[in-house]
Amino acid sequence: MVVISAFTEAEVALAYCIFKTDRVNPWAYSTFEKSALNSISLVAKKNEITVGFVLLSSILDELTIEDITVQVNQRNKGIGRQLIQSSFILATQMQQIVIYLEVRFSNTPAIELYRSMGFELIGQRKNYYETERGQEHVTHINNKITVIAPREHAYIMKKIL
Ligand SMILES: CC(C)(COP(=O)(O)OP(=O)(O)OC[C@H]1O[C@@H](n2cnc3c(N)ncnc32)[C@H](O)[C@@H]1OP(=O)(O)O)[C@@H](O)C(=O)NCCC(=O)NCCS
Repeated sequence: MVVISAFTEAEVALAYCIFKTDRVNPWAYSTFEKSALNSISLVAKKNEITVGFVLLSSILDELTIEDITVQVNQRNKGIGRQLIQSSFILATQMQQIVIYLEVRFSNTPAIELYRSMGFELIGQRKNYYETERGQEHVTHINNKITVIAPREHAYIMKKIL
């Protein structure tokens, strides 16, 4: 059974390990810890073991999903959906009226999850995310050779509560 609750300090280190496995350029531990322990971010535990989390932030009546990650071997079992559903409940309790998030163009699992939970695409941020250094390419600008690490666009999505 999966239990969703607010983070305690005990869950932060394992959640950070889960976070790091999927990130091109992960946040520093201290940044992650601050976000996890902000009293609104949520952790998912299965048989007492951390298997995923959603990092949330709030300004006035707007909630933002800063990150959501489920441990690789626990994906496609409904845990991401449960984390988002719990975020909706929390947001309603906090009298938030809207939830925002950003997601990479290429992140089909996350986009499908958000769409299936009622998020709508409202905009894009060009070249927002870093990509793997292995995809660097060379270009010629003003007769100079410049190495460019291509960046990936972000979708901005919104759900009115
Ligand atoms: C995105 C993520 C959190 C989804 O978590 P999850 O627990 O695997 O998701 P769920 O099992 O709850 O799936 C819910 C829905 O998401 C969508 N989905 C999940 N995995 C998918 C995949 N591989 N391809 C397409 N859609 C997918 C489906 O709509 C699914 O609904 P369904 O099971 O009824 O078909 C997970 O893939 C993850 O941790 N990814 C890496 C981190 C990341 O990219 N986070 C998003 C940052 S913006």
